[in-house]
Amino acid sequence: MTTPPRPSRAHSFNAVAAQYAAHRPSYPPALFDTVEELTGRPLSGARVVDVGAGTGIATALLAGRGAHVVAVEPGDGMASQFRRTLPDVPLVRGNGNALPLADATADVITYAQSWHWTEPARSTPEAMRVLRPGGTLALWWNVPDPDVPWLAAQHERISGHCGATTGARGTADRLRALGTELDVDFTHSQVRWSRRVHLDAHLANLGSHSHFLVMARDDATAFLTEERAHLRKEFPDEMLEESYVVDLLTTRRPTT
Ligand SMILES: C[S@@+](CC[C@H](N)C(=O)[O-])C[C@H]1O[C@@H](n2cnc3c(N)ncnc32)[C@H](O)[C@@H]1O
Repeated sequence: MTTPPRPSRAHSFNAVAAQYAAHRPSYPPALFDTVEELTGRPLSGARVVDVGAGTGIATALLAGRGAHVVAVEPGDGMASQFRRTLPDVPLVRGNGNALPLADATADVITYAQSWHWTEPARSTPEAMRVLRPGGTLALWWNVPDPDVPWLAAQHERISGHCGATTGARGTADRLRALGTELDVDFTHSQVRWSRRVHLDAHLANLGSHSHFLVMARDDATAFLTEERAHLRKEFPDEMLEESYVVDLLTTRRPTT
């Protein structure tokens, strides 16, 4: 019997779009307050392009703030789920390396957990082309809070099983360094928040991460079964508090 090909990490989400939409964490209102402070304008009425929109978790919140959002998403499965959830929000099929959008037409471009899937040497000038002068590029990631002991211990177990994962905090650091390389000056902000979820939901969230999606299914199932046993010991009522630090990087298109 031949083993089915595994999806590349950037496209691995398409097979689990419904699980992704149901269990991935959202983003807190304070994140959007911070984006407004840094852009110097309300999101209400702003022309926002949400790239790597996935199932629309961030898009829905931006639209809820009154932004005129156009979503960009390359993946078939994620785009189908997006259309089911947000049928009235325009979705353009495309990717951040070559945005299918006209020059200087966006006030804000957002990438929620998705910029690390692009080639920054291409996606950065693309974002600058599509932003109006003075417009803002905002990139963010929900990072499990490393100061919370059970999350730090879980991170160690995942790193041990999946090989060295930098984690999203590592990603943000790397991208800030890349900003220097690309001559883009990123401002780094952080927003803390948490949500209380059942163990089943927590494991479904974990299982929708790309490092589990690209490994053999038996291997992922074995890890998640063991993880359930660890967490049951720590949280006998099977309710747990997922704590996050949102790492936000912003930069503006120069006005001259
Ligand atoms: C972790 S998901 C984030 C989805 C959504 N923004 C959210 O906050 O839940 C990453 C998304 O990036 C998309 N993606 C992969 N490669 C991309 C690229 N080169 N440009 C833009 N998006 C990409 C994937 O299809 C996926 O939907």
